[in-house]
Amino acid sequence: MGLSVWLLLGVGLLGTPVAGCGYESCPATKPGMLNVHLIPHTHNDVGWLKTVDQYFYGERNDIQHAGVQYILDSVIPQLQADPTKRFIYVEVAFFYRWWRLQTESMQQVVKQLVSEGRLEFINGGWCMNDEAAAHYNSVIDQMTLGLRFLQETFGECGRPRAAWHIDPFGHSREQASLFAQMGFDGFFFGRLDYQDKASRKQLREMEQIWRASASLEPPSADLFTGVLPNGYNPPPSLCWDQFCSDNPIVDDVSSENNVDSMVAYFLEVAAAQAKHYRTNHIVMTMGSDFQYENANLWYKNMDKLIKHVNARQLNGSHVHVLYSTPTCYLQELNRANLSWSLKYDDFFPYADGPHQFWTGYFTSRPAFKRYERLSNNFLQVCNQLEALAGPVGRKGPYGEGDSSVLRRAMAVAQHHDAVSGTEKQHVANDYAKRLAAGWDACQVVVSNALASIGGSKENFVYCNHLNISVCPLTESSHTFMVIVYNPLGRRVSWNVRLPVNEALYLVTDPDGQTVPSEVVPVSNFTWQVRRGRGDATHELIFQASAPALGYSTYTVSKTARGTLRSKLAKRIQEQARPRADAWSSREIRNEHVRVLFSPQTGLLKEIQNLDKDIALPVSQNFFWYNASIGDVDSTQTSGAYIFRPNRSEPIRMAGGARTYLVKNKLVQEVYQNFSSWCSQVVRLYAGQAYVELEWTVGPIPIDDGLGKEIISRFETPLQTDGRFYTDANGREILERRRDYRATWNLSQTEPVAGNYYPVNSRIYIKNKTFQLTVLTDRSQGGSSLADGSLELMVHRRLLYDDSRGVGEPLLEPGVYGDGLVVRGRHLIFLDTVESSADRHRLQAEREFMAPQLVLAPGGGPPFHPGQPSLKQFSALTQELPPSLHLLTLAPWEPSSVLIRLEHQFERGESANGSQPLSLDLLHLFSSFTITSIQEMNLGANQQRAAMSRLKWRPATGAVRHPVAPPLDPLRITLEPMEIRTFVATIQRQGAAKL
Ligand SMILES: *[C@@H]1O[C@H](CO)[C@@H](O)[C@H](O)[C@H]1NC(C)=O
Ligand SMILES: *[C@@H]1O[C@H](CO)[C@@H](O)[C@H](O)[C@H]1NC(C)=O
Ligand SMILES: [Zn+2]
Repeated sequence: MGLSVWLLLGVGLLGTPVAGCGYESCPATKPGMLNVHLIPHTHNDVGWLKTVDQYFYGERNDIQHAGVQYILDSVIPQLQADPTKRFIYVEVAFFYRWWRLQTESMQQVVKQLVSEGRLEFINGGWCMNDEAAAHYNSVIDQMTLGLRFLQETFGECGRPRAAWHIDPFGHSREQASLFAQMGFDGFFFGRLDYQDKASRKQLREMEQIWRASASLEPPSADLFTGVLPNGYNPPPSLCWDQFCSDNPIVDDVSSENNVDSMVAYFLEVAAAQAKHYRTNHIVMTMGSDFQYENANLWYKNMDKLIKHVNARQLNGSHVHVLYSTPTCYLQELNRANLSWSLKYDDFFPYADGPHQFWTGYFTSRPAFKRYERLSNNFLQVCNQLEALAGPVGRKGPYGEGDSSVLRRAMAVAQHHDAVSGTEKQHVANDYAKRLAAGWDACQVVVSNALASIGGSKENFVYCNHLNISVCPLTESSHTFMVIVYNPLGRRVSWNVRLPVNEALYLVTDPDGQTVPSEVVPVSNFTWQVRRGRGDATHELIFQASAPALGYSTYTVSKTARGTLRSKLAKRIQEQARPRADAWSSREIRNEHVRVLFSPQTGLLKEIQNLDKDIALPVSQNFFWYNASIGDVDSTQTSGAYIFRPNRSEPIRMAGGARTYLVKNKLVQEVYQNFSSWCSQVVRLYAGQAYVELEWTVGPIPIDDGLGKEIISRFETPLQTDGRFYTDANGREILERRRDYRATWNLSQTEPVAGNYYPVNSRIYIKNKTFQLTVLTDRSQGGSSLADGSLELMVHRRLLYDDSRGVGEPLLEPGVYGDGLVVRGRHLIFLDTVESSADRHRLQAEREFMAPQLVLAPGGGPPFHPGQPSLKQFSALTQELPPSLHLLTLAPWEPSSVLIRLEHQFERGESANGSQPLSLDLLHLFSSFTITSIQEMNLGANQQRAAMSRLKWRPATGAVRHPVAPPLDPLRITLEPMEIRTFVATIQRQGAAKL
């Protein structure tokens, strides 16, 4: 008899049937006593010191002893043998792998345990995502991926009731809002500022209601939130894993018998903990990183603890210990029927002691942070085209591919040691490699879909190195096609920039009309970064536009020949030369913006918004903080997690910049060279209402023995009263106040690092009339350290580890080993306070869902004659209004798609933008017919109508619990910041067959 068969029998022999899962399966507690909920758990990082694969299998145990497969192997028989035992599992990326390797009978065993609530999934995302650097689009996607697997595998019993972010390094309000909208009843976490924790313990505010949206009607974004007492570890001396060295409970005649002292100690610990919590229930997390590989050690000792502590009840003890889960603990808190205080702000920044601010990781690994954001962009494009094209997208003329490879790689990349930048270098490489494999698979989908929709089997080419002006096709071809695919629900214009070699080009739009184009030289800065990986001398620039959820195809052909060529060469040379005359005015301008530079320093001096007739002196320069290596105040160094400058004043990169101007009808660019490793292009395209700063930083030199953290700082005369504003995960804005925390009296130990906040997509400062907004292209740390000033950390390179586990200095060697070079963009808006949200909301949307360029030499054979042409296509019957974002259009089941619509404005931030919206969803898409539609919760693992979250009573103000009106797909209404999620069954028009 095989082991698995024996296990299967075990259920019948030993398991007393438990009624249902979730709340129904919770163990009985004792009303008159202090109930101590032991939560057996393991924390499995989806990559950190080892790669995901290494962690799963237990490879490279020389780096860290950890093997996830053994954990699950070891826990299941423990649960089977004793129906009172519980275990929670969290990271679906690992569970999914383990599940697929099990026999059918083992899968049955696990299903049984899940259906009885003995094995319970908590949180249920693919990973436990980072909260500072993760974008909401990717948070929702990674949660959806994990929750969907659980739902499909285990049904309702696989739907987690509690969110569980025990390790992320600070907690964002948006994350809580998203969890609430996913239907979670409560949320537990481990890390918060040490001063905050102390104050909460004293005030008994370890558990509260987090009102996580300033826009959504309570309680839809209210989330009951609990701070765990010991992070996610057991109380001291009570760790019984093989990794721990605490004493076991010795309860026989042995001379080492320690039962009495163990029980006494436990009662002491429980009583002390209970002082800080409000009900007669407390929770203890019994587990930690990669524990339970030999689950017997833990369970055997917990069994004894439970037995001996509870035995004291006969002698009058009022403490009852039990195996439990976060869900069961949550239920008891809810039953206590107390009213709970409200929290409105967030849990950033996180400090685990004086001088120890975890604000470095907001910027750590800036190139990976950008790659991750760009990969989300491409995943959404891939999702959309796979949904629009149907089966031919997955299997077509370019082979087989689907979006799932990139979806999973992106989900892994959201982990709190992935996009956060706190993993070892070899693990960061692995994350990037996974994304790259996802891009490859998605390129097949996109090619198949374009051929199918466009009816032409072109030799599609993807140029993924346009940021360093490399694209062999455009550099060498006399003629080529540029397909501009627009993933947004409304038409966009986009400045296309392609590497070419010296020539004149004719660009035509889908109607054959000539489009203005210009050729500019590839900058010195780009040559320097490119280091021989390409040799394009010029860039072709033209403005393209593409319809809603569709594409336009432009044709580019070389026109320069003979005499024209020499004329052209001269023109290009002129452009390349610093033009003293044109540049003597020290300004660039278009119809909307004027930018002035200092003649002495070449630095930015003033920005004018010509539409509003407002001007603001704005100076901008790069600086670097000298990373602390520890000092008399603290041994804390600056590292991958922690930001700690060795003094508050950063060092100026240069007093000024050497500059030159490139100017033509389409673009004006001031090239600023600050140092051999820091440069910037200040750019103004025709028609653009913002100033674009494209910075290039690195390789950061370290031969002077100094770690460096590079910032771009803007200084203005704005009176900002110590306040500035940052977004949470790309969505709602939070007000920040220098040297201040909303819920406790801050004792500030780090005037710089202690004022840094995560900037996911934007930061701004304002006075009563003007607002200066900076949009970023990836997550970065940012602050305002003086009134009128604003800064973003763009890159960092450090020589010491900061003692938080990663065990490596953040040296990022880059491709050539001498240090990573990073290039990125800051978009600067100067506007009135009232108009700013209109600007930054719509532009941020265009940035994270930017058009995807697909190139082809042209002249490909037809594919499916009778299909629409490859010239122009839109999958919508009408454009979406500006406030409405098509957040998700993705394949779901073979005949259904997942759709998310989002109101992308906050309440009250824009006169027009913040109005509620209505939309006919049934007739929105022209590519398919919606035959039926179901509204889901945000995670798409439950019908919205079936959502019934636990109700919590806030200490102030009543909340209504209105019943949602029946769904009318002809009129979907969205309130500010609302996201609505649908699964739509569809029929494709003239579904293409191979
Ligand atoms: C660009 O490179 C050329 C040649 O290396 C050099 O002469 C010129 O000064 C550089 N220009 C700038 C702005 O750095
Ligand atoms: C805001 O700052 C600008 C520039 O310094 C100034 O002109 C304007 O008067 C200020 N507005 C208020 C209300 O202080
Ligand atoms: Zn972790």
